[in-house]
Amino acid sequence: MKEQFMPANTSSNPYGIGAAANRVDGRLKVQGKATYAGENLFDRAPLIGWIVGADIASGTLKRINTEKAEAQEGVHAVITYKNSVDQKPFGLPEDTQRFGQSRAMLNEDKIRYAGFPVALVVADTLEQARYAGQLIDFTIEPAPISLLTKHSEAQVAPESIDGGYEADAGLGDIDSALSSGERFNMTYTTPNQVSAAMEPHTSIANYDGTNLTVHTSVQILASAVDCLASTFNLSKENIRVKSPFVGGGFGSKLGLHNDAILASIGALHLQRPVKVAMTRRQVFHNAPHRGMSIQQMAFSADANGKLGGVQHHSAMPMAKDYAFAEGTGVAARVNYQAEAIDSKHRVKVVDSPMLDSVRAPGDAIGSLAFEAAVDEIARSLEIDPVDFRRNNIAPVHPITGADFSTNNLDKCLLEGAEKFGWKNRQHTTKGTKKNGFGVSLGMRMNMIVPSEASITLQNDGQLVVRTDMTDIGTGTYTILTQIVAEHFNVDANRITINLGDSDSPASSGSGGSFGASSSGTAVLNACEALSLKLSECAGLAKGNELVQLNDNLVIFGKGDTEQQHSLSDLLGNTQNNALTAQGSVAPDEGNDNYAQYSCAAHFAEVEVDTVTGEVRIIRQHGAFSAGRILNHKTAGSQLKGGMVWGASYALFEELQQDPRDGGFVNCDFAEYHFAVNRDIGDVSLHIIEEPDYKACKLGSKGIGELGITGSGAAIANAVYDAVGARVRDFPITPDKVMAQL
Ligand code: MOS
Repeated sequence: MKEQFMPANTSSNPYGIGAAANRVDGRLKVQGKATYAGENLFDRAPLIGWIVGADIASGTLKRINTEKAEAQEGVHAVITYKNSVDQKPFGLPEDTQRFGQSRAMLNEDKIRYAGFPVALVVADTLEQARYAGQLIDFTIEPAPISLLTKHSEAQVAPESIDGGYEADAGLGDIDSALSSGERFNMTYTTPNQVSAAMEPHTSIANYDGTNLTVHTSVQILASAVDCLASTFNLSKENIRVKSPFVGGGFGSKLGLHNDAILASIGALHLQRPVKVAMTRRQVFHNAPHRGMSIQQMAFSADANGKLGGVQHHSAMPMAKDYAFAEGTGVAARVNYQAEAIDSKHRVKVVDSPMLDSVRAPGDAIGSLAFEAAVDEIARSLEIDPVDFRRNNIAPVHPITGADFSTNNLDKCLLEGAEKFGWKNRQHTTKGTKKNGFGVSLGMRMNMIVPSEASITLQNDGQLVVRTDMTDIGTGTYTILTQIVAEHFNVDANRITINLGDSDSPASSGSGGSFGASSSGTAVLNACEALSLKLSECAGLAKGNELVQLNDNLVIFGKGDTEQQHSLSDLLGNTQNNALTAQGSVAPDEGNDNYAQYSCAAHFAEVEVDTVTGEVRIIRQHGAFSAGRILNHKTAGSQLKGGMVWGASYALFEELQQDPRDGGFVNCDFAEYHFAVNRDIGDVSLHIIEEPDYKACKLGSKGIGELGITGSGAAIANAVYDAVGARVRDFPITPDKVMAQL
């Protein structure tokens, strides 16, 4: 893979903000010293819990016989709804956000979905627990299974959709707008998909009679504590969650899942550490997935390619008792201006495993369909698809009329086309293979979520940051180090970042592309508060708090006003010879009256075999704008990962559900296909960097979900360009291409 980074680090500090700095935790990771959730942090070795799951999606557990399992060597307990600990019913309290609600299981005879735990076997070893699990005999009286099969079945308007949007939004008279000019109608579908993070969901829990401690893999800690408190009727003070390293989450670990609840049930039951590590196959049913979508669209455009009406009606499943609805149609609300816009979301309640966020909820699959549909219009009107998009992008938010805080979408299209070589693209035929080129764009919302952090200056000169923020592989340890290093102008080795402990100040956690700006601004504010405290210790007037740390000197001011104090003098009179300051951030600081989005333009070249229908990706180029880049290396990695994932959505990923039992049938990496190295061509990107200080004080915007937004559609559009096959049912597999040749 090629990469093009634009180093923006202007300070001499190799860990200054913007530097393409290596991960500060890289060494720990390659040495195996990073403590992931499978690593035991307790004094005593954990017992091992094995999940026994239901074989049908809906019904009542009529009979369960655990005697044989209980009699096996090494088995400490077989826990079912008959002997489990007390729990609050699933989904309570109702007025709490979804990650803080009870995730009760083994508390009733009702089967919630296929694979739903009916028993937990706890034994000395995994082999003992798994073997005993096979000896449990149970009967489920089946109930009818409801799944979404066609658009008209989705009749429920969700109260709101993910991202805080309204289910319905629009402007103008859509019927009249759609009846002028040329009209286009198309329906696209995307299948069920899963995150399937590298590290399967794993937890080790311990209960000492008073305190429940859970070492798990989760993206947000504060709501994980709420969830355990809700589920087990415990006081939050008696719960501690640790998640210092997370091997990928992508939304599937925003909240706690079955491993954490079951490990806790085991620990509460036995008052010993209990570990539940999902196998890869278990992840597909015991952790959330993304639902399939049916996206009905209609557009009108005049002969010059100006859009008149834009209509997007999304139908998706919603899991029983779990009010998550994906914002699949939000691209239709912001990507282009039009006389009239009509974006609606409807859901059908289904008997599926939990449906929740998967990376770039809404936009990942919304842009996949929407940007392919828009391409159909440009091609039909014989307008260059780059020009068509540039001609229709919105100068202000198309529906609200709000100004964008910054918007470099046009620059992304223009510069991206230039770097990709769009104008000089050459169509070639090699034997049975034809190449083709595609473009698409993406806009991803930006937001700040309340965050707190503390920073302590110790008398050994170390700066120690504490926040319950997580690093899900994105580079949080590194960017927070950079923010502190730049503020105090110190080496990275004087900075310690403590993450992933619920005893630390509460942060946004990682998700929704809000983590870096939210937790980063809180840390920056803590640094500024510490500078102020230090200047007070030095007896300086307010305004003189520009501080640098140099060996054991604290330097205030610059040039003529420079003053130096020794660290021991300044900290001598403080408690514990250390000084701590707090920082926080709240959303209103982010200028919410502006429409805040990061932008992408994607370009792709593919080669399609006209005999087999096989699509090979030659290259992808992404042009991105996401405010100020905090670290060009980790940002580039995030974006590339997203681009590759988008390609994977276009061509490979599909989780298949058996309508007879509601279970997924391809629950491993042999049968759930996704892009591997061999499937991907050259991946290049460039970043148009413009700090956005309306987004936050750091000038940064969300980047994690930007790479995938629009990336798959560029591939789909390239397939059409190559051989004229417009596959509206993702993924674009060879059989579907062949059917159109
Ligand atoms: Mo993200 S899908 O909000 O982790």
